[in-house]
Amino acid sequence: MRALLATPGVAGTARVDDVSEPRAGHRGVLVRPIEVGVCGTDREISAGLFGIAPPGREQLVLGHELLGTVARDAHGFTKGDLVTATVRRSCGRCAACLAGSPDSCDTGDYLERGITGLDGFASELVVEDPENLVLVPASLGRLGVLAEPASICARGLRHAHLIGTRQPWAPTRTLVIGTGAIGMLATFLLRLRGDEVWNAGLSPEGSEMARLIGAIGARYVTGAEVSATALAEEVGGFDLVVEATGDARVMLGTLGLLRRNGVACLLGLDGRAQQVSLAGRVIGHDTVLQNRAIFGSVNAARVDWLAAIEALDRACARWPDALEACVGLRVPLERFDEAFGFAGVKATLALGEP
Ligand code: BGC
Ligand code: ZN
Repeated sequence: MRALLATPGVAGTARVDDVSEPRAGHRGVLVRPIEVGVCGTDREISAGLFGIAPPGREQLVLGHELLGTVARDAHGFTKGDLVTATVRRSCGRCAACLAGSPDSCDTGDYLERGITGLDGFASELVVEDPENLVLVPASLGRLGVLAEPASICARGLRHAHLIGTRQPWAPTRTLVIGTGAIGMLATFLLRLRGDEVWNAGLSPEGSEMARLIGAIGARYVTGAEVSATALAEEVGGFDLVVEATGDARVMLGTLGLLRRNGVACLLGLDGRAQQVSLAGRVIGHDTVLQNRAIFGSVNAARVDWLAAIEALDRACARWPDALEACVGLRVPLERFDEAFGFAGVKATLALGEP
């Protein structure tokens, strides 16, 4: 069967090739991928900057954003069920993993499908343990491919709430920075809650991203016109800032955009070797005197997947066109280059029909 492969650590090795079909064995469920989303992590692996191949191998099957159908009845799943799968697998040793929360793994020895030590989902057939599969409602259809990035947002927002509510907290005004899939889906999730949501990004006013943000009742400001700092001053600061740019300078700057009791949630990644700075008064004075908090969040627990899918389903009913427009490019596996180069919200690799 065909699969999208890369050799982690070596740039420019992404290619479609034949690999042997997986066997379901007595524990697994055979799933036929319909669509696999592509994100910055896949681009980094294909650029040789990230990822680990499974033990004893040089190549890794890419793809961690799965939407598929169950190929054969097994373990309570029925042929034709629409499913997605969580990404991270337990290290088998730490308390978090043993409690079923590898998203909080304490050893760092977790595995991740399509990223770290386990083959991903960008192939014609995959096998997954039933406990890692999550049902996707038929009403969501192909948009179920957004479950993985939405689960990242759902976890960030769940943790932001836990941190915010360590003291009385009633957030109303939120800023999302970034118009990629994470920034966009965070904006959808927050709008569903009824928050006043602002989104700041680099896409120009009048761009497709700006249009989508407006369509769901959030307000878009382009970084070129008004800086997030000026905006924060104008509106009186934000209760919650969700950062999804992957720029360490922007990440640190979120502390200065918060109002009293505000929480900043960092979802982007920036591994560049550099120094970033912040006005001393923001951390040394405002953060303390105003009970502000900043935190990072990665991956997602099963509860976040369930919350994400439920929210996507509601978003799909309320803003069908806007959610549909988030998947701006669907190409067959062989055209993965186009998906990697796509500058819109989300590109996917189409492998089959529901
Ligand atoms: C994935 C996460 C994963 C992270 C780090 C992201 O692209 O969405 O599931 O934990 O990369 O590997
Ligand atoms: Zn990803």
